[in-house]
Amino acid sequence: MKIDIISVVPDLLQSPFAHSILKRARDKGLLEVNVINLRDYTTYARAQVDDYAFGGGAGMVMMMEPLVNAIESLQKTTAYDEVIYLTPDGASFNQKMANHFSLKNNLLLICGHYKGIDERVRQHFITKEISIGDYVLSGGEIAAAVLVDAIGRLIPGVLNDETSALTDSFQDNLLAPPVYTRPEEFRGWKVPDILLSGNHKLIEEWRVEQSLQRTKERRPDLLED
Ligand code: 6GU
Repeated sequence: MKIDIISVVPDLLQSPFAHSILKRARDKGLLEVNVINLRDYTTYARAQVDDYAFGGGAGMVMMMEPLVNAIESLQKTTAYDEVIYLTPDGASFNQKMANHFSLKNNLLLICGHYKGIDERVRQHFITKEISIGDYVLSGGEIAAAVLVDAIGRLIPGVLNDETSALTDSFQDNLLAPPVYTRPEEFRGWKVPDILLSGNHKLIEEWRVEQSLQRTKERRPDLLED
């Protein structure tokens, strides 16, 4: 899969994909991430990419031409499955969307800044608008990093048995059960006996029970539909 990201602060996106599972995905050739500097596509002096909002009011708006230049230029060499705009007024990102996007070939992510991008770009170029939650970030870059991480680790072949996504929280609309590792006892705090029993059937039942209980307590909304 290839994910291209258009940003006005490309430096923000250097480190998030350079470690751990995403690094391995890139090293294995399963994931390619390119960060494109929007200022390379401006037609205005001093690499200007934003301007005052028509109608007045505080805050700048990202102009059409640099964005359209960048999008159309990238589209010459890549057929994108989706052109995604990261914006707080988009649809809330969730595990189901991550699963869905992880099966695509090419994604283009557009990071908003300031008051956002000119509405006409949204109308004519954007195919999906996504938010990562009900709070405001100073730009879409960190949201883009969240999407790349959540999607990238699900690309077939990226995770191995030890890191399998099948037992993640949310994968079946349940939170994950508690986990323990060595030592068996620390300051008198013991690992639940069942996990040391070697009885895999009972352990699995215990985990499902714990998952259900946790979900009921912490996220009853997940059990509603
Ligand atoms: Cl995608 N962008 C910004 N700027 N703020 C956000 C967001 C995105 N998702 C939640 N808050």
